Order: sequence, then C-alpha cells, then structure tokens
Amino acid sequence: MKDLYCLAIESSCDETSMSIIKNGSVEISTVVVTQIDIHKKFGGVVPEVASRSHIESITIVLDELLKRSGMKLDAIDFIGVTYGPGLIGSLLVGVECAKTISLVTGKPLVPVHHIAGHIYANNLKRRLEFPLIALVVSGGHTDLVYMDQDYSFQRIGSTLDDAVGEAYDKVAKILGLEYPGGPVIDRLAKVGNDTYELPYPLDDKSYNFSFSGIKSAVVNLVHNEKQRGNTIRVEDMCTSFQERIIHVIVKKTRQAILEYGVKYFVVAGGVAANSALRDSLNEMALELGVQFCVPDLKFCTDNAAMIGAAGYYAYQSGIVSDLTLNAKAIDSLYEYTK
Ligand code: KG4
Ligand code: ZN
Repeated sequence: MKDLYCLAIESSCDETSMSIIKNGSVEISTVVVTQIDIHKKFGGVVPEVASRSHIESITIVLDELLKRSGMKLDAIDFIGVTYGPGLIGSLLVGVECAKTISLVTGKPLVPVHHIAGHIYANNLKRRLEFPLIALVVSGGHTDLVYMDQDYSFQRIGSTLDDAVGEAYDKVAKILGLEYPGGPVIDRLAKVGNDTYELPYPLDDKSYNFSFSGIKSAVVNLVHNEKQRGNTIRVEDMCTSFQERIIHVIVKKTRQAILEYGVKYFVVAGGVAANSALRDSLNEMALELGVQFCVPDLKFCTDNAAMIGAAGYYAYQSGIVSDLTLNAKAIDSLYEYTK
C-alpha cells in the first residue's frame, strides 16, 4: 500500500503545533511552540491572548516544520486538523490555516477530534490493539472509552463536573503554585506525606468521575488553616490530593478492564504524564496480567503528532471535509462511531 503522509495541525489551547506523520504511526517531524510562559503570569490560559499568539506563530511553525522535515507541501497526502473541542479563537487559527493549505494544494482536509488525537498518541509508540479501554485524562476531559476497532469510540464514563487536569490546575492555584499545576503537584507529592483528610472523589461503582468536591475540600481546608493562623504543608496537601485522585481513577479503570474483558488499555491526555498515575497503572496492569501503553512524555500534552496519527485513521474511515469546515468549541467524539 502507498505510504500516506499527513500534515497535522493542532492549536486548540495554548500550543501551536504542526507535524508530519507517515501512515498514522511514524513521526517524520514535529514542531511545538508552547505559550505556557505567556499564560503563567495570569495563572491560566487567557483565550484572547492565546489566539493572538497562535496567529503570530503559525506560519513560523509551518516554515520550521518544512525545513526540519525536508519535505515540500506537494509531498503531503492530506491535512489533518484539530477542529474541536477547545478554545474557539485558538481552534480557528489552525482550521483556517489547514483550509488555506488544502485550497492551495488541493489535498483533502481531515477534521480530527482533539481527544481522538490524545488516544492515538499511543499509536506513535505501539499499534493500538483492540478491543481496548482508553483512559482519557486531560485539562478538559476525564473519560473512560471502549474501542473495538479503529476510530470507533464508545464512552462508558465521564466527569460530571471538572476534568482531572483542571482540578490539578485549580488546586495548584489555591496552594499558590504555578500554572500548569499538574507537573508541580506531581513533583511536590513525591516529597510529601498523606496527612490531610480529603474525600475520595465519587468513589462508587459507576464509571463517572467528579473532581469539584475534592477541590472544594482543599479550598475549605486552606481557609480554615489560615483562619487558625496555621501554615499549609503544601507538599503534604499535594500528596493527599494526588493519592485520592489516583486511587479512584485506577480503581475505575481496573473495573472497566475486567468488565469489558480487554487485554489492553491506553492512557491519554496531559495527566498521562503524571508519574504516580503511571506507576499505579503499571502495578494494576501487572496484577491483572494485561498490557498498557502511555504515550512518550512529549506526546502526552498537546501536540500535532497525535493529530497526524488519529488523522490517518479518520481519513481511512472516510472522514473528509470541504472548505466549509468550522471550528467547534464543544463537540462530542462519541458521534464518530462507525
Ligand atoms: O492534554 P493537555 O495538554 O491539554 C488539554 O487537552 O486539556 O492537558 C493539560 C493538563 C493540564 O491540566 C496539566 O496540569 C496536566 O495536563 N498535566 C499534568 C501533568 N502534566 C500535565 N497533570 C498531572 N501530572 C502531570 N505530570
Ligand atoms: Zn489536550
């Protein structure tokens, strides 16, 4: 079969990224420009600032990608672009860029759902094996997904309120830590002790999650301690918070693996970078005798390589758009079942 090269574009939040991926699994070259330092001083992503920054970066990223890969646009077979979900102004920059390249080159335009991208980041490491359970843990999503074939997504559980990465970021802010909170809490939790009494979030038999309660519990604890004139042991709070969250996530993933009888699971999204989560999932996989895959660290957070991987399978499934393609701030991946 002829090799298929995807030019992939991702701009849904605060990373401007482009990549060339061969056959959904081989990374030719990837460029990521992150805006983290710009948003740090605001304690989170400022949408208007993010979209302006994407506009400034996008053509530079494209030039750099073509230079690094040594490829020309006419060697590309199709263009994969994140059309949603995400920040609308940010998404529009990537979508308009993709449409322009498609118009100029005449190459097909393939809309890719951001979460499909996160799941397919695993395909860059190892070919997905079906059936599988995907644990999606990002700044915007916390889902358990069942897949029995490529580009077929059945959601079996989801967060009822905050996403897990969002909870990490908000708790970090309450504790006076920098944005993004996940990596900082991950680091501090290693040196702290589990001394704070926090609730286990939605520790029930369902596949749903809820993280706003544990976040409020941290807020209340911090306020109460401050009123008493006590200082917060930040490292201990990080350990206690992270322990509760990981306990519930791993428990529900384990239950899904057993109930759906899968021998393979994958982890997706920025929180997949969490070292304690990786360790706990590894222990669970060993105990159950199942295999699992976590993307390389650089492909856990937002990047276009994962969009190129998912884009290949979207294209194979016949998902192609004309130039009326629009960005969507909110969109369900789970409509894309074959
Ligand atoms: O997938 P992602 O890059 O963006 C979204 O699509 O949302 O995820 C970003 C999220 C942030 O909330 C960040 O705090 C979290 O991933 N994150 C982590 C770690 N690294 C990034 N959370 C926990 N531990 C980490 N090591
Ligand atoms: Zn993401």
